[in-house]
Amino acid sequence: MSALVELTAAELAAGDELLFARIARDLRERGFTVCPKALPGSLAGVLQAHLAEMNAGRFTRAGVGRQEAHTLNDFVRTDEVCWINGESAAGRAWLDWAARLQRFLNRELLLGLFSFESHFAHYRPGDFYRKHLDAFRGEANRVLSLVVYLNPDWQLADGGELVLYHGDDTGSSLKVLPGLGTMALFLSEEFPHEVLPATRDRYSIAGWFRVNQSTGHRVDPPR
Ligand code: OGA
Ligand code: MN
Repeated sequence: MSALVELTAAELAAGDELLFARIARDLRERGFTVCPKALPGSLAGVLQAHLAEMNAGRFTRAGVGRQEAHTLNDFVRTDEVCWINGESAAGRAWLDWAARLQRFLNRELLLGLFSFESHFAHYRPGDFYRKHLDAFRGEANRVLSLVVYLNPDWQLADGGELVLYHGDDTGSSLKVLPGLGTMALFLSEEFPHEVLPATRDRYSIAGWFRVNQSTGHRVDPPR
């Protein structure tokens, strides 16, 4: 397992620059990017294998809001999540990849991204996450939202699309099928989005790059 993950890291470092450059260009030009086959195959494989081994009991019902504002709300979302903290080799390989992306974007776009938090999410058939924003203007903690999908052979008829709305009142939107390796990345304050119900189990990793909000009086917690 660890040999596989080491190989993955070496492979990734070589292949990622082109992808990262495309991501940076898209973010600069339009604030979002959607890339099929973005996740390197070896990393996708490691994450899929990890998901398959994971006990369903590790997932807990997702809430809405941070910390004290955190509530369960069946009307807004019904998925289950499992935070990724680097305990597993697969989790570490994922966090390494995200850290490389963070460094690249900080270098290219001077975003000052400071930390990254992410979780696996499991949507059972019929589960949804209604239209929402991941961050609110002025609170500026979550700057960039990243979602990658871990579902092999996903078909149009399976549903479960991520709908990304352009925050410009044109009402235009983009649907993303949650097929294995597809990635969506967008400015957290700018793009309302929702997850439509699927007819199959749907697995993703959702993550957020944040800037630091700590002040002399209050240390900003990681979640
Ligand atoms: C989220 C989210 C989208 C997806 O967790 O905030 O919007 O496609 N997830 O899983
Ligand atoms: Mn979201």
